[in-house]
Order: sequence, then C-alpha cells, then structure tokens
Amino acid sequence: MDKNFIFHQLFEKETSTYTYLLGDQKTKEAVLIDPVVEMVDRDLKLIEDLGLKLKYVLDTHVHADHITASGEIRKRTNAKVGLSSAYDMACPDLHLEDGQEIQFGNYTIKVIHTPGHTSGCLSYSIGGMVFTGDALLIRGCGRTDFQEGSSERLFQSVRDKLFSLADETIVYPGHDYKGFTKSSIGLEKKLNPRLKLENSKEQFCEIMNNLKLSYPKKIQEAVPANLLCGLPFKSEILNTGFVDGIPTVTAEDVYTKLGHVKVIDVRGSDEYNNELGHIQNAELSTLGPKLDKRLDGEDKNNEVVFVCRSGKRSGEATRMALNKGFEKVYNLQGGMLRWNELHFPIERDMGGS
Ligand SMILES: [Fe+2]
Repeated sequence: MDKNFIFHQLFEKETSTYTYLLGDQKTKEAVLIDPVVEMVDRDLKLIEDLGLKLKYVLDTHVHADHITASGEIRKRTNAKVGLSSAYDMACPDLHLEDGQEIQFGNYTIKVIHTPGHTSGCLSYSIGGMVFTGDALLIRGCGRTDFQEGSSERLFQSVRDKLFSLADETIVYPGHDYKGFTKSSIGLEKKLNPRLKLENSKEQFCEIMNNLKLSYPKKIQEAVPANLLCGLPFKSEILNTGFVDGIPTVTAEDVYTKLGHVKVIDVRGSDEYNNELGHIQNAELSTLGPKLDKRLDGEDKNNEVVFVCRSGKRSGEATRMALNKGFEKVYNLQGGMLRWNELHFPIERDMGGS
C-alpha cells in the first residue's frame, strides 16, 4: 500500500478480538472493521485524533462472543454499517454480497463471502491484506457448531476463496488467543493444523466435529444484540424476543400493558374495522407511504408495537422503523388473528386516519 494508507490493528482483551481501522491520509475517509461495544470511546478517539471521517463500519459476521459497536458508532458518526446479505437482517445499511467493492478515499475493499463459521461470514481484501474474521484464524479457524455453521462450507470457503489469494497476502484475523497479530496465506497453507493443504475435507470435518467447545460466555446477549447491530433493544415495558431477526412481542404481553405502549396498526383502512376489529387506541397508519411519513414525524426513542392481520406486514413495518433508526420497535406476533384467538377486546369504530 502507498504512504497515504492508514492502518491500525486494535485489540480487545476480554474476548481477544481485533478491530481494524483503515484510512486514507489524503481524503481522510476511513473504515472500521469489527469494532467491539466496550471499546467505542477508544476507537472514536483514535479516529478523531487522526482527523479521519468514518465512512463505513464493516462487521465480518454476526458475532456470538462479543457485542458489535457498529450500531453505536453509526449513531455517533453517521457512518454506514455493512454486513452480509446472507443474514437477512434489517439493521445494516449495506447488505454486502460476494465480489462487491467498497470505496473509501482512493482505496477499494473487495468483499469475499466466506461462509462456514456462520452463514454470512465475510472476508475483506484490500491491497495485499485480507481481513478474515473467524473464517481463517492464525493456525486455526472459527467453530462451525452454531449460527448455521458448516465445516464443509468453511473448508470450501478457505480452500477455494482465501487460499486462492497470493501466498504473500497478509492475513489479519478477527481474534487471536495466543498473541499473534498476523499471518499470511502461504503460511496458513503450510502450518494451519486444520486447514493446511495436506488435510482432506474429511480430516477437517473430523477435527471440527470433535472440538467439544463450550458455548461462548456472552452468546445469550451477544447474538440477539448483534442482530440489531449491537444496540440495546431491551424494552422497559414489554417482554421482547426475536423471531426471524425481528424484535417481537406477544399478544398476551401487549394486552397486559395496554395504555402504556403505542400501538400502530399497519393494515388497510378497510381492515381496521373488519371482523377482526382493532386494538383499543391503535393508530391506523397503513404500511407504505402513509406509515413512512408517520414514522418520520415520530420520536425515535418511543416504544412502538406494530400490528397487522397475521404479523407479516407489521414485521415489515418493524424493519422499516429499525432502518429509520428506531431502537424500541416490536412486531406483535400473530397479529389480530392471534389477538382474536385469545378473545382480547377489540374495537370497531371509525378511528384512525
Ligand atoms: Fe465469530
């Protein structure tokens, strides 16, 4: 890389995670890869000290061992968050695909889809360096026993994609537990005990299937939080969960808290007063331009529950709100069908707009 290229490798001790800051001295544009939520102040201070302007925050994957800082940094810098399109998540601004190019300043990052540790793992390559996340670690690799992991896919990703890079390409991993900071494709081909060239796919899978690892300490909090780019999604009023990557609440819970949360009904105006009726005080704002406009006038800190007939359109509404930067928005699971099934009270007046 030329002399204008800025590169910092940063470390978080508790989970042994590496964060990388890349920048262009000339244009001041910068990219942060895999920031950790506990280290936000350090990372932003460095960016400020260097006079850089953060353009993108790229996560290599949905982490299970730590909470990403991507959402928090987006809030504080207006940088765009990038993550693999394979996860089908609402929170990233960029849903990245294999082969996609990301520009900052005079530099270009190439996205390489390297699934196996998770279904949406990405590696980022730029000028003789590759940031491999957990797909390829120094003398190791990420586990494949959860988050749609697959040892066959990981073997393919590393052998077909990462090992096809030049041998001198420097490997910067997502973690290191032994104090190493970098490796190279050539060295890993020779020395990686799991993925070295002399190992067959069967040998690799055999190793991976017998690791017998315990689950990461933070997995219960990290995965749901990371599906929202690491932003705290805990409601102070509702008991929330996650269904298909969307924050969700049950009809039972909403019923007990009526009057304390805002409910927006996103069905058509004809449906609002049909046989299923609507929830008391639910505001009608049909999914589409009406809701779009409605949300633009709403305080993003408000808690909102979306409801429709079955939970599908309100799921879309929840995604839409998340994309607009709302953090406490929830889909009412099962919609008015579920509400009626439970014989909760409904109204059929001509309210709404
Ligand atoms: Fe990971």
